[in-house]
Amino acid sequence: MANCQRFNDISVSERILNTLFLLSIGLGYLFSLGQVFFTHQGRDGQAGLSIADIAIAYHGSPEQTRLAAAINGPMAGNLKSTEDKSAILDWIASGAPQALYETQVAPILQRDCLACHSPASGLKVPPLTSYEQVVKLTESDRGASIPSLVRVSHIHLFGIAFILFFVGKLFILCDIPVWLKRLTIGIPFMSMLTDIFAWYLTRETPAFAYLLVLSGGLLGLSLNFQIGLSLYQMWLPQAWDRRLQGYAAHVLASATAMRPLIWARCKAGLVGVSALLLEVARSEQMQYIQDEMKKVGGNILGTLKKRLSSGNRWFL
Ligand code: HEC
Repeated sequence: MANCQRFNDISVSERILNTLFLLSIGLGYLFSLGQVFFTHQGRDGQAGLSIADIAIAYHGSPEQTRLAAAINGPMAGNLKSTEDKSAILDWIASGAPQALYETQVAPILQRDCLACHSPASGLKVPPLTSYEQVVKLTESDRGASIPSLVRVSHIHLFGIAFILFFVGKLFILCDIPVWLKRLTIGIPFMSMLTDIFAWYLTRETPAFAYLLVLSGGLLGLSLNFQIGLSLYQMWLPQAWDRRLQGYAAHVLASATAMRPLIWARCKAGLVGVSALLLEVARSEQMQYIQDEMKKVGGNILGTLKKRLSSGNRWFL
């Protein structure tokens, strides 16, 4: 393979830049989970996020209205009290009559909602300033509109494709089996496309909410796997490598430095040992031992000879 760069080949400045980028994306991912939670939780009337909430967000719920879904879900926090919420829900349940609207509902909306839901706010949100406007939101919840899905689709495709591209570009510098790398680079793009496709499917058939959650989860997993492994390989093994190389170099350097000394000791040792042996061999004690051994040997031989010649046989 021609000149494939790895994390080992890049400078520390690049690593710092890459790390900050990857950490920002990771943090952004956490916030996007929070965003999913806060925009969809409670839509089914129960606190917390569930597949049912997702299905309602895209498919709608025939027995719920957009207004009820909003005050049960993302808009609940804007209401000052839960009695106000029941008052609005009761009004919707009783068929949203105008007289009751003026006396019971309008004051609540006036106080808690119009800061954002009026033309004056400049926000792109449904206005809640007149009975006609509010009553439109009490028709059954048809889920996400095609124009809103198209809008979010183009934002997601442009934005997330950029993120996946840059994170993937860095991930390519990892040192892992090539089949795993190719697979891991493809998965987030496929999941992003499946996820967006699943929005439209869920709008038609709520059961596709499972596909939507599955592909969204897979996107998150594969993206964070890329981020995690890149950060790991960018810093840790390098540091270990360097430390090991440092140890090896240290041992080698001290061995090199000590080689003449060790050699000298060995030589001196050899010389010393041989001198000692020579000295021992030449010493009086050695002479004495030799003489004694000769004497003993002579005695034994003499005794043997005598015994043999006298016919007294110990052997044979
Ligand atoms: C701080 C600003 C703010 C306040 C206050 C606010 N909203 Fe909203 N509202 C928004 C924004 C922004 C959106 C669009 C975001 C979205 O669709 O999740 C929205 C969306 C909605 C929707 C449309 C949901 C849909 O199905 O598309 C309804 C209905 C709604 N709000 C009702 C209310 C009611 C009722 C109140 C008062 C209790 C209220 N809002 C208070 C900002 C606000």
